[in-house]
Amino acid sequence: MILPELQIELPTPDHTARLAKKFAADLQPGMVFLLHGFVGAGKTFFARALIQTCLAKHGTVEDVPSPTFTLVQTYIAGDLEIWHADLYRLTSSDELIELGLDTAFEAGVCLVEWPEKLGNLTPPNAINLTFTSGPKVDARVCHMSSTSPDMMALLTRITEQFSNDT
Ligand SMILES: Nc1ncnc2c1ncn2[C@@H]1O[C@H](COP(=O)(O)OP(=O)(O)OP(=O)(O)O)[C@@H](O)[C@H]1O
Ligand SMILES: [Mg+2]
Repeated sequence: MILPELQIELPTPDHTARLAKKFAADLQPGMVFLLHGFVGAGKTFFARALIQTCLAKHGTVEDVPSPTFTLVQTYIAGDLEIWHADLYRLTSSDELIELGLDTAFEAGVCLVEWPEKLGNLTPPNAINLTFTSGPKVDARVCHMSSTSPDMMALLTRITEQFSNDT
């Protein structure tokens, strides 16, 4: 299936942080972000900006390290539990269940790097964000899609807000 896709230019890391802040303003339990892109594309950078924005709203300041070795890091922002996963080193899908990621998909907000490893546990209504290289060294392009009409509506709204700001 070919999904409709929206694109946002991110000429600098600040633009990526600004995009993450827009998403942080619109989070609900059950939202899953599948973060695609090459090593160093900005997946952790985006997740960190989103999580720190949510934590700051509740007066909390925390480091958001890359979960490369722990696979998962969790954060509490008010009523919201945020899961940040990096599945690059995942060895089996059993590990996903052991980590509790399948239940977190329903109860919390999840940001998943290297989501290709989810296989048939990939949530159908997730937001796909793919970071690709832009025209300059610090530029990225974010390609956004979802099979969920509600999530597509959110992506459209965020794209409009983002372009109105610049
Ligand atoms: N426009 C941009 N948006 C985001 N990050 C950028 C941008 N331009 C340069 N960068 C830099 O690229 C790096 C992205 O690193 P990051 O750890 O987020 O990558 P990653 O996609 O998570 O990689 P990995 O697959 O290893 O987990 C950071 O050092 C960041 O400062
Ligand atoms: Mg990363």
